[in-house]
Amino acid sequence: MTTTLAQWLAAQPVDQKLASVVATMADASAEIAAVLRLAPIAGQTGLAGATNVQGEAQKALDVISNDIVLNHIRQNPEISILVSEELDEAVHIENQGGFMVATDPLDGSSNLDVNVTVGTIFSVLDARKGLLQKGSAQLAAGYAAYGPATSLVLTFGASTAVFTLDGSGTFVLTVERVTVAPASGEYAINTARERFWDAATRGYVAENVAGETGPAGKRYNMRWVGSMVADIHRILMRGGIFMYPLDSETVSKGGRLRLLYEANPMALLVEAAGGKSTTGQEKILELMPTGIHQRVPVILGSAEEVERVEGWYARG
Ligand code: AHG
Ligand code: MN
Ligand code: MN
Ligand code: MN
Repeated sequence: MTTTLAQWLAAQPVDQKLASVVATMADASAEIAAVLRLAPIAGQTGLAGATNVQGEAQKALDVISNDIVLNHIRQNPEISILVSEELDEAVHIENQGGFMVATDPLDGSSNLDVNVTVGTIFSVLDARKGLLQKGSAQLAAGYAAYGPATSLVLTFGASTAVFTLDGSGTFVLTVERVTVAPASGEYAINTARERFWDAATRGYVAENVAGETGPAGKRYNMRWVGSMVADIHRILMRGGIFMYPLDSETVSKGGRLRLLYEANPMALLVEAAGGKSTTGQEKILELMPTGIHQRVPVILGSAEEVERVEGWYARG
């Protein structure tokens, strides 16, 4: 007996107006999935010819995905604000609903032309409390992972559930309560950046590389997809730690990944699944944002691994 997303949402002890916001993002994700499946044929995997507020050369699919999200958002009267990686400013929508959505409409864009998993990330907040709220104030968070299957991963804060898009275009429940394994032998970091790393990151990674002969006392494997959604989905499903720490090159911008629509939603999803999330110095979900495109360091995943990294930072 399958449970559809609509049935699952109706059974959640949450405001059904909030549930409708999540359903809207699920609908947008299903539409994006359909576009991505055919993009190479439609010639859409290239550049859009514009640069976004992040200073990135926008991919055509970044813009297309953003437009799809915006179209769906406009059709839900419960939503009045959209913050997007691909929009310089927040969009205030006339129907003045009570909810704000912050989204990374297409995460992992560098993987689009090589057919590697990408995703859509979103965070839901109370629109009446302003654009800049701590991650702990999120009302819901989720992402879609466009991989061999299209997964939708959702939380209202208490637990994290996984859905899969079926052949009819309906998300069906496939994992009711996913938990991040407390221990793991897998870590995700872009090792090409080693020369920029701080002492804590160097120390932690060196222990992993030392494997069973070192202080960690076990063998590690390394995986880095280059799509945050793909790396974090793997960590949710089988454990591990994701690291994009502050380094000597990203310190001037505060980090690499964006707080409102990458770090915060992923931190809520991982913590609701029993994992941990930190900048290295403090809890991601307790950061007071200073801007809608603020960047922060991101370290999250299996509790024991995150705690070992925190131990390295505590050494100073
Ligand atoms: P986006 O495609 O939304 O701009 O995000 C890309 C991010 C994230 O998905 C990934 O973890 C990270 O960029 C990879 O960074 P590097 O290319 O520096 O490894
Ligand atoms: Mn981008
Ligand atoms: Mn991203
Ligand atoms: Mn993006």
